[in-house]
Amino acid sequence: MLNDLMNRNREWSEKRYNADPGYFARLAAQQAPEFFWIGCSDSRVPANVVAGLDPGEVFVHRNVANVVHSADLNLLSALEFAVEALCVREIILCGHYGCGGVKAATEALPHGLADHWLEPIRRLARAYAVDLSQETDGEARRDRLAEFNVIEGVRRVAETPILQKAWANGADIRVHGLIYGLKDGRLRDLDCSIGPGHFEGKAAQ
Ligand code: CO
Repeated sequence: MLNDLMNRNREWSEKRYNADPGYFARLAAQQAPEFFWIGCSDSRVPANVVAGLDPGEVFVHRNVANVVHSADLNLLSALEFAVEALCVREIILCGHYGCGGVKAATEALPHGLADHWLEPIRRLARAYAVDLSQETDGEARRDRLAEFNVIEGVRRVAETPILQKAWANGADIRVHGLIYGLKDGRLRDLDCSIGPGHFEGKAAQ
């Protein structure tokens, strides 16, 4: 299995090099991605592939169920680097329908450490219980909850001192919430973007 992977890598790198001999040298010299992607660890939702982006075009953080924990040093470190060092302009929080992490958060049975990780989604399920009860079946309820998780995550990213500071300094950064459909391979915009105007609005209140 590992040998197959190594062979595929060799073929890929040779193909890339042959198509463009300067390709790796350019990427090695610097990365200048326009996007920071926060997504689910699910193997079916790889940021570069579903967004049609090449190596070097998106800086990525993924975790189980794309949860934004306000004290997650891993996510915050990546976010800070993306905003302050890479100067990305677009932050994309991308969830997906059929998310196993969201499903686990709706189940009564214990999942070990994952239950701690998924706690914010359980909280959302309680907070939006009335909205979720409108959905006809369990799958639709979980998919709606996955959308709420993205919208909440966008708010949380926007509330971090990293974004607040960037906006206060005049940075033109937007945080977007998208959701990916495993069944059709399409990204949908959840229309919950937050940009510098929002920050100004909040500050003026
Ligand atoms: Co998932």
